[in-house]
Amino acid sequence: MTHMNVAMMTSGGLAPCLASSVAYLIEFWAKALKEGKISGLTLRMYIDGYKGLLTGDSTVISPDIYDECTCLHDVGGSPIGNSRVKLTNAKDCIARGFVKEGDTPLEVAAQQLLKDSINVIHTIGGDDTNTQAAELSKYLLEKHGGKVCVVGMPKTIDNDVFPIVQTFGADTAAEQGALFFNNVVSESSANPRMLIIHEVMGRDSGYLTAATARKYREMYSKTAKFPAPGFTTTRMSRDVHAVWIPEVQVNIAEEGARLKKIMDEHGCVNVFLSEGAGVKDIVKEMEDRGEEVPRDAFGHVKLDKINPGVYFSKRLASLVGAEKTLVQKSGYFARSAASNAFDRKLIRDCAEAGVQSAIAGVSGCMGQDEDKEGQPIRAIEFERIKGHKSFNTSLPWFQDMLKEIGQPIA
Ligand SMILES: *[C@@H]1O[C@H](CO)[C@@H](O)[C@H](O)[C@H]1NC(C)=O
Repeated sequence: MTHMNVAMMTSGGLAPCLASSVAYLIEFWAKALKEGKISGLTLRMYIDGYKGLLTGDSTVISPDIYDECTCLHDVGGSPIGNSRVKLTNAKDCIARGFVKEGDTPLEVAAQQLLKDSINVIHTIGGDDTNTQAAELSKYLLEKHGGKVCVVGMPKTIDNDVFPIVQTFGADTAAEQGALFFNNVVSESSANPRMLIIHEVMGRDSGYLTAATARKYREMYSKTAKFPAPGFTTTRMSRDVHAVWIPEVQVNIAEEGARLKKIMDEHGCVNVFLSEGAGVKDIVKEMEDRGEEVPRDAFGHVKLDKINPGVYFSKRLASLVGAEKTLVQKSGYFARSAASNAFDRKLIRDCAEAGVQSAIAGVSGCMGQDEDKEGQPIRAIEFERIKGHKSFNTSLPWFQDMLKEIGQPIA
């Protein structure tokens, strides 16, 4: 039995799970103390992710308020702040004033953990956040002989981390995107021949777009009762007519012809579009026209400059003969929500197992392991964690959905 110095930090973009993760980790550490599994506990929060770790900005949560922290479940965002910092990018850390010229961010972060006598750090973030933490832990052991256990909590609304079955926040984000669209779709009654493009987050993975379409269709078929024939609002006018994601090849001309029929008959067309969908096609068309493709320092196409939603809406608007086009992005609305019941259960299970793993001194990223089907949640080895997992378009529910909406299966 020992006194545990436990640190937490959130990092990366928002997802509907950060506050709940902090709340459950506090709950299970407090429980471990109460049950005598540890002899003492200090809970330290690094503020604004890796920025706080580099600059030594942290707060210690008073044991008096451990029980009150359940209120965090009701809020979105992060209760301890986020930032995007890459520990291996010294230049960026210096430019932003997090470390001094000549300092190595990894070393600065390691010294801070030693100074605060941290035994365990919970990194709540995406695959980058967690692999950086693993690197830091390795560095500490090699350079300073210090052992800091790293227990990651995998969040991302893209659900694209290998080999984790389901990441935190993705289910909530899909549900919130569905709610968002349930309002926005009414806009089609504001104008004849309306094209609505619902742009959903997801650069490389179509999971969130597909899951949002699925949740929306479940939601509206359960709740909406449609009036008798003669009204312009119908089950069909509020349905999803196309789901375009990076994993599915889209022939715009053929899809245009199919969707024009829907426009002619129902007066509107509703498309769910991943922000990363069709980027390759857009780039090719731009190059064919001799236009310059905006790219960042790594050579990645700048999505905000290409703006697939606007691009597709222009192309599609003329193909379907739209009188008016509306592009609506649900990203910020969805990712800033508090977690739903499904995610809370997942987070709770991972926090409970995560605290046990930390007490046993086992590092890893918490989750259900795809390669070990049927096994309980466990600390998955950091070496195996990788981002950019594609959405599996062969899943029966996705195939069924495409069939129902009449979109050809690629
Ligand atoms: C994708 O889903 C199908 C159908 O459930 C399954 O047979 C296949 O193994 C999955 N592929 C991957 C790579 O997980």
